[in-house]
Amino acid sequence: ETGTSCPAACSCSNQASRVICTRRELAEVPASIPVNTRYLNLQENSIQVIRTDTFKHLRHLEILQLSKNLVRKIEVGAFNGLPSLNTLELFDNRLTTVPTQAFEYLSKLRELWLRNNPIESIPSYAFNRVPSLRRLDLGELKRLEYISEAAFEGLVNLRYLNLGMCNLKDIPNLTALVRLEELELSGNRLDLIRPGSFQGLTSLRKLWLMHAQVATIERNAFDDLKSLEELNLSHNNLMSLPHDLFTPLHRLERVHLNHNPWHCNCDVLWLSWWLKETVPSNTTCCARCHAPAGLKGRYIGELDQSHFTCYAGTKHHHHHH
Ligand SMILES: *[C@@H]1O[C@H](CO)[C@@H](O)[C@H](O)[C@H]1NC(C)=O
Ligand SMILES: *[C@@H]1O[C@H](CO)[C@@H](O)[C@H](O)[C@H]1NC(C)=O
Ligand SMILES: *[C@@H]1O[C@H](CO)[C@@H](O)[C@H](O)[C@H]1NC(C)=O
Repeated sequence: ETGTSCPAACSCSNQASRVICTRRELAEVPASIPVNTRYLNLQENSIQVIRTDTFKHLRHLEILQLSKNLVRKIEVGAFNGLPSLNTLELFDNRLTTVPTQAFEYLSKLRELWLRNNPIESIPSYAFNRVPSLRRLDLGELKRLEYISEAAFEGLVNLRYLNLGMCNLKDIPNLTALVRLEELELSGNRLDLIRPGSFQGLTSLRKLWLMHAQVATIERNAFDDLKSLEELNLSHNNLMSLPHDLFTPLHRLERVHLNHNPWHCNCDVLWLSWWLKETVPSNTTCCARCHAPAGLKGRYIGELDQSHFTCYAGTKHHHHHH
């Protein structure tokens, strides 16, 4: 075997380091992929099973694309012998479980794409064989019912996590993700954000929580997010935010609060002051009052005490600035 001839179903370039086998109605991974392949694209075929040792000879392979197939089973050892693999794409397939054991020995893996698979649960230590991971896409897992408290244990290098559109009702335990910088939680059904939901996420810079049915954010919920720069809370059910919620977030500079039914009373004054001080232009955040009728449509950032009567000794905070 010379190892440089191109499989009949594929096209190869750069001395067969790039092998493209997309849309060839393949039911199996072709045999005899050239040994010097660095990039292998098998997208949009009909592959159902990835068998043990399928890629064993591809020690230079860096990117493996298996998305948009019918993959329902990945055998233990399927990814044996891939010491250079940095990107594994498995989105839009039929996996019902995370193929945890198959990730063994992928010591260089940095990106794992599992979005849009019918995965039902993420068990403990699901990714602890790949501590090198930096980006993990678990978006659109629409059948997801359960995430273990220890699901993300070991992912100490993870920078980006997508858990958007997974029907989550609670934020899972993310404490193990000590280097996480970007977190996508949009399109879930979160309702309530509790203190401790983001415990330990001191490196987080961007948090996306759009269209997530958030109605209540409890006091101190964001206290650990010391590095947060961007927060998107648009399209939720928020009527108010607890007093001084953003005070511990010294780096926060972009906040999206639009499309929430903000109730503009004395409780919103702290936010008005914060927006005026932190967000130079009141249009960037676009938080507009929904009620009371007299203030409907006004930007929160343009309000001040003169718009309300705030009494000391009531449940409202009397804001001195
Ligand atoms: C959440 O994860 C952290 C860190 O991995 C762990 O120490 C803690 O026990 C977990 N919390 C629960 C409630 O299991
Ligand atoms: C956050 O929300 C704003 C306003 O809805 C939107 O323009 C922006 O693109 C959002 N950010 C991301 C990362 O989607
Ligand atoms: C921004 O705020 C200023 C004063 O607070 C106001 O005059 C201006 O109309 C606001 N901009 C928009 C687009 O509402």
